Amino acid sequence: CGIIARIGDGDGVQELLQGLSNLEYRGYDSAGLAVKQRNGSRPTVVKRQGNVSELRDLADGQMLGPIGIGHTRWSTHGPPTDDNAHPHTDESGRVAVVHNGIIDNYGELRERLAADGHEFRSDTDTEVVPHLVEEFLDAGYDAETAFRKTVDELSGSYALAMIVEGDDAVYATREGSPLVLGVADGCYYLASDVPAFLEYTDRVVYLDDGDMLVVTPDGYTLTDATGAVDEPVVETVSWNPEQAGKGAYDHYMLKEIYEQPQSLRQAIEGRVKPESNELDLEDFPPGTFEDVETIQFVACGTSYHAAKYAVQMCSNRQLSAQAFLASEYATSIPHVDENTLVVGVTQSGETADTLTALRKAQDAGAQTLAVTNVVGSTAARECDDALFIRAGPEIGVAATKTFSSQVVCLALFVEQYYRDRHDGEPSEGSDELLAAIRDLPDVIESVLEQTSVQSVAEAYRDVDSYFFIGRNTGYTVALEGALKFKEITYEHAEGFAAGELKHGPLALVTPSTPIIGIIDGLDSDKTIHSLAEAKTRGAPIIAVTSNPESVRDLADMVLDIPETNLELAGVVANVQLQLLSYHAAAMLSRPIDKPRNLAKSVTVE
Ligand code: G6P
Repeated sequence: CGIIARIGDGDGVQELLQGLSNLEYRGYDSAGLAVKQRNGSRPTVVKRQGNVSELRDLADGQMLGPIGIGHTRWSTHGPPTDDNAHPHTDESGRVAVVHNGIIDNYGELRERLAADGHEFRSDTDTEVVPHLVEEFLDAGYDAETAFRKTVDELSGSYALAMIVEGDDAVYATREGSPLVLGVADGCYYLASDVPAFLEYTDRVVYLDDGDMLVVTPDGYTLTDATGAVDEPVVETVSWNPEQAGKGAYDHYMLKEIYEQPQSLRQAIEGRVKPESNELDLEDFPPGTFEDVETIQFVACGTSYHAAKYAVQMCSNRQLSAQAFLASEYATSIPHVDENTLVVGVTQSGETADTLTALRKAQDAGAQTLAVTNVVGSTAARECDDALFIRAGPEIGVAATKTFSSQVVCLALFVEQYYRDRHDGEPSEGSDELLAAIRDLPDVIESVLEQTSVQSVAEAYRDVDSYFFIGRNTGYTVALEGALKFKEITYEHAEGFAAGELKHGPLALVTPSTPIIGIIDGLDSDKTIHSLAEAKTRGAPIIAVTSNPESVRDLADMVLDIPETNLELAGVVANVQLQLLSYHAAAMLSRPIDKPRNLAKSVTVE
C-alpha cells in the first residue's frame, strides 16, 4: 500500500491525487482521500474500489482543502471494496486514518471496541485505529495524546497518518513500514516513498521506527519512541522527477528496460576504473570482507534471482555462499556467527520478508549488508553496511533495470570478497570480467536496437505454457525470465534448470509448450541436449544465444545476443527476455505496469 499526506498553503487535492498516482505501483485495487480546511474543520472522505484515475473522477472539483491524507491499497485484510478502501474513519467522522502494514492484534482490539459499542464498517485491520483514537478523544485527551495512546496499543507493522476535526495537523508514525517526510517551502508531505512527492521537493527526513511526527502548516515536530524531541536530519535526494516519469514511453516497464545502459553506467561509475580496470568499491576498501567465511543472501522475487546469480558467481570461484528466499529463511534461520555475512538483496529496501530475515540474522550475531536501490530505505539503515545499485527510480511493478544493476553490483562485490579472502589476489579472469562489465552498457544498447523479439512474441501468442531453461547463471535467468513472463502476461510460465527438464517437467512438454533456452556459453552443449529432448517431443524451441550456428538445426527462432563474458551473458540474455515478456503482454493488452494482484513493494509478511 502507499500513503501520502500533504499540509500547507493553498488547495492540496491535486497534489494528493498526483502523489497517489505516483504511488500506484505500491498497490492499486482501491484508493481514497480525506481532506480538510484549516480552522479545525471535519475531514471529508472520498474513497472507492478501483484505481486512482477512478478516484480522481470522484474527487476532482468536489473536494478542496490544504490538509489531507491519501491511500492506495494492496489488499491484505478484506477484499477490495469501497468500504475496505482507506481512509478509515471513526463513527462520528471526526478522525480519518490511512495505514500501510498489518496490525497483528486488531482482532482483540476490534472485539473490545465492539463490546464498547463501536460499529465497524469494513473488514480491515486498520479500522480499529480511528475507533481507538475516538475513544481517547471522548475521554478528553487532545488529538496528539489520543494518537500516541492509540499507537501504544498496536502491535504489528504500520505506517500511519491521521487528520482530525478540531485542529490543523497531520499526525504520523511508523513501525516496520516506511514513511518519509518531504520538506518544501510552506508545505510538507508525508509518503511511503520519495517519488510520491518528488515533483514538489527533494528535501526529505527519513523516519525511524517509533518516531512520531506532528506536522502543521507552520512546521513539524519529530519525537522518538521515548517521546524525546529529535533533531531532524534533512537530506537531499539525488533522484529527479523526470527520472520518475514515464517520458515518451507507453509504459514505465519499457522505459526502464531501455534505461539499462544508463543505469548500468551509473552502477559502475567510479567502481571500475576506466583505464586500469581497477576495482574500487568505495565504501568497502580492500580487506572489508576478509573475515567473512560464508555468505547467506536473502531476497524475494526478482531480487532473489539476482542473489542466486551472485551465488553462482561465488561457486564459480569456490567461495562459500547460499541464497535463501527471505520468507523461508525467516521461518528457521540456518547457523550464523560473526563470520557470516547475510546480504539482503532488495531493490526497495522495504520488503518485509527480507527485513525480517535480516533482523533475525542480526539478532543471531551475523554481519549484514543491504544491496539496495533506495538510499534511506529501512534495509540500508538497519544493516551494518549498504551497497547502492544506483539504478534510479523504478516504477513498473515488474523489476527490470534493477535486476541488471543488482547483478553487476553483486559481481563487483563477489570479486572483492574473493580478493579479501585471497590476500588481495584477483580471481582468475577478473580482468576480463571487469572489462566486460565496463562494456556491458554498450552491449545492452545493441540488444535494445534489435526488433526480432516482437516476432517471437507474436509467433507463440496462442500456446498453453512457456518453459524457460538454462544452466549456471543461465538457470537463474530462466527463473527470472519465467517470473517476468507470468507476472505481466498472466500466461503460465516456469523456469527450470536445463538438466532437470528430463527429471519431471518433460512430462508437460507438447507441441504447444515453447521452450526458451538460454545458451550463454556455460555448458552450452548440455543445454542444447536438453532442448533437443524437448524438440523430439514436438516443442517449439526458442534459443537465446550469441552462437546461432550451434542451434541451427534445432531452434525454431533465435534471440540473438552479442558475445560477452560468460558470466555476464545471462544479464544480456535477460534483456531479450524482458523484451519478450513486454511485447507478449502488450499484444494481450495487459496492464503492464500494474499487473493484477501484485505490488512493487510488499511491506507485509
Ligand atoms: C515484490 C515485487 C517484485 C520484487 C519483490 C522484491 O513482490 O512485485 O517485483 O522483486 O517484491 O522486492 P525488493 O524491493 O525487495 O527487491
